Order: sequence, then C-alpha cells, then structure tokens
Amino acid sequence: MADERYILVLNGPNLNMLGIREPEIYGRLTLAQLNEMLEESFPELLHFEQYNGEGEIVTAIQRAGIDPACKGIVLNAGAYTHYSYAIADAIAAVPAPVVEVHISNVHAREEFRSRSVIAPVCAGTIAGFGVIGYTIAIQAIDSLVMNSSAAPVQADNKSSAQ
Ligand code: DQA
Repeated sequence: MADERYILVLNGPNLNMLGIREPEIYGRLTLAQLNEMLEESFPELLHFEQYNGEGEIVTAIQRAGIDPACKGIVLNAGAYTHYSYAIADAIAAVPAPVVEVHISNVHAREEFRSRSVIAPVCAGTIAGFGVIGYTIAIQAIDSLVMNSSAAPVQADNKSSAQ
C-alpha cells in the first residue's frame, strides 16, 4: 500500500525571491525550480508552501504539525529564524519534527545570523550546503520517522509539559 503521508517543505520570507536575490549567496535556482527538483527526487511525498508573513508561517506549522498525515516539516524560516519567538512557540507546540534549513552558512555571515531562536525546538539544523540542504532535511525526517516506533512523532528536544 502506498504511503500517503507527506512532508511539508515550508519556506519563509524572501525565499520566493530565489534566483534573483543575492545569487552569489543563494544560487541561481528559483523557488519553483528548487521545488520541481525536490519533487523529482521524492515523488508524491512533498507539499510546498511559502509565506512572507510570520503569522502565515505559524498557521502553516500549526496545521501541518498536528496533522497525523504529516511526517514532518522542513523549514527555512529566513530572517524570522533569528528573532521569531512566535515561530519557535509554534514548532514547540506541535508533535511533528521540524528540521531547520538554511541555504547559506549562517555562522559565516553577519553576527545576527548565527543566532537561531528556533534551533532549540527543531529536531536538527542543516546550513551551508546550498539548496542540497533541503534534500538532506527531507532524508533526515524520513529516517527520524522510520526510527521512531510510536506515533505521533515527537522530537526529543521538545520539552514536555511535566
Ligand atoms: C537564510 C539565512 C537567513 O539569515 C536569511 O535571512 C534568509 C535565508 C538561508 O537560507 O541561508 O532569508 O535562511
């Protein structure tokens, strides 16, 4: 029987500008081309969403994050990574594992980029490998889900209420 569960690839602000935006940092692939490449590598596994607004990202994490059909979320939160406690809270609130992705090596750039307020509630972080980071993150979610016996999947580093 086909696995009907999906992984959400969620991109945040300015990632709709890939291909145009600072190509020396983010490359020349557009977001549509990137999504197409991922779809070819992982047919019928992925859902794609992109929002510039913080609230829309929170809503998308809430929606997919409690959906039993969602295996996990690959999230490039763009600049919100560095200061959005609302996105961090949304990730902490849902059982689905979230893998943080950055195209660039955020630790080798301006100082403000080396701080991620979402990293502590994510299952892991992949940064600095260009758009291949998305492929690595998808594989990471697949192996996280495969290695966890009980559903729903809970990232170990999400604190429990007790
Ligand atoms: C980014 C890094 C962020 O600092 C930046 O604000 C982005 C993209 C990356 O993919 O490298 O928008 O998340």
